[in-house]
Amino acid sequence: MRPVEVKKDIYWVGAVDYDIRNFHHYSRSPEGSTYNAYLVTDEKKVLFDTVNAHEFDELVKHISEITDPESIDYIVCNHLEQDHSGSLPRIVRLCKPEKIFCSPMGLKSMTNIYDTAGWPIEVVKDGDRIEIGRRHVTFLETRMLHWPDSMVSYIEEDRVLISNDAFGQNIACPQRFADECTREQLLTAMKGYYYNIVLPYSANVLKTLKRVTDMGLAIDVIAPDHGVIFRTPEDVAFVINSYKEFAEQKFMKRAVVVYESMWGGTARMASAVADGFEAADVPCTLINLQTSHCSDVMTAMADASAVVLGSATRNNMPMANMMACLANMKGLRPLNRVGGAFGTYGWSGEAPKMIAQALDDMKFDLPAEPLKCYFNPGADDLAACRKLGGDVAAALKAKCGE
Ligand code: FEO
Repeated sequence: MRPVEVKKDIYWVGAVDYDIRNFHHYSRSPEGSTYNAYLVTDEKKVLFDTVNAHEFDELVKHISEITDPESIDYIVCNHLEQDHSGSLPRIVRLCKPEKIFCSPMGLKSMTNIYDTAGWPIEVVKDGDRIEIGRRHVTFLETRMLHWPDSMVSYIEEDRVLISNDAFGQNIACPQRFADECTREQLLTAMKGYYYNIVLPYSANVLKTLKRVTDMGLAIDVIAPDHGVIFRTPEDVAFVINSYKEFAEQKFMKRAVVVYESMWGGTARMASAVADGFEAADVPCTLINLQTSHCSDVMTAMADASAVVLGSATRNNMPMANMMACLANMKGLRPLNRVGGAFGTYGWSGEAPKMIAQALDDMKFDLPAEPLKCYFNPGADDLAACRKLGGDVAAALKAKCGE
């Protein structure tokens, strides 16, 4: 890779990680990811964010193609999570910057994660503005997008928003700009990223989007710290509107049936539940948790407001992957869902009830009782599964106004 000029004297100097499959150690990134960092060369040379520690050499290589790293004056840390700050200690040693900017909460994170003795840290608050030559940079705190320390940097004269985690996507590819990708590729990556990283903070997303609108912030470029950069008016509008849509979580007429089977009975039940959805004209996807990751479930939920989960009972509870799936889903706090639960059993059969309880705790609407089946589902059991799919489909369609 080579550095890429985003606007005059504003460069992408980050790293593309084609290998990463376990993003942040909890979410799949099947296409890898990028750690974007940006260098602005004005009277002051400013580096916005760094990269994960293992990509340090790549960052330095890119900076060096534009300027001597030791000539960097300022470093801006929009967010201290290690995918952005992992290279910070080595970059600070190399550049010896005049100032390191971060938010008040960023200071707390920085001083606890790293040995910052002697670092020239300057805390900036929401709305603070600095001059770096002919340009000005304004910092806006975006707490909980994605950590309490998160902020974004707005370069006024170029109308460039360096948005850190917000508007990111897990994409590893030679392209640096959204207009070089297909909409389909982009939207899939945006949904996966949003539903596995940003979803719990949806209220903050809507608040931030409203604030940006109210401020009348003119934006030509949105430059996130993961994935591709949005540089055309169409793409900037596209990513903002998509985020609004993701955050609102309006009811969508699609379903996903997620299951974990031990000897195949729960899998047959899952298939019959899906048939029930399709008979009711609700498109339905099946996800087998023994072959898919729980983050695939969240990505599917970006298109589906009905979620029905089934597991065989093992040792008086749902199977392990289903337990992990429920825990992951609960933490990501999806809103506006209808659901149901089912599963086979051989001894006791607690799993469907426990799944239903977990969904109820997440405020799902549950229009039907959890369904359990002794060992192999027979014709009556499969008919009950189709009815379960049909009942949840009817509840979903009512929510969609049909
Ligand atoms: Fe991309 Fe919250 O780190």
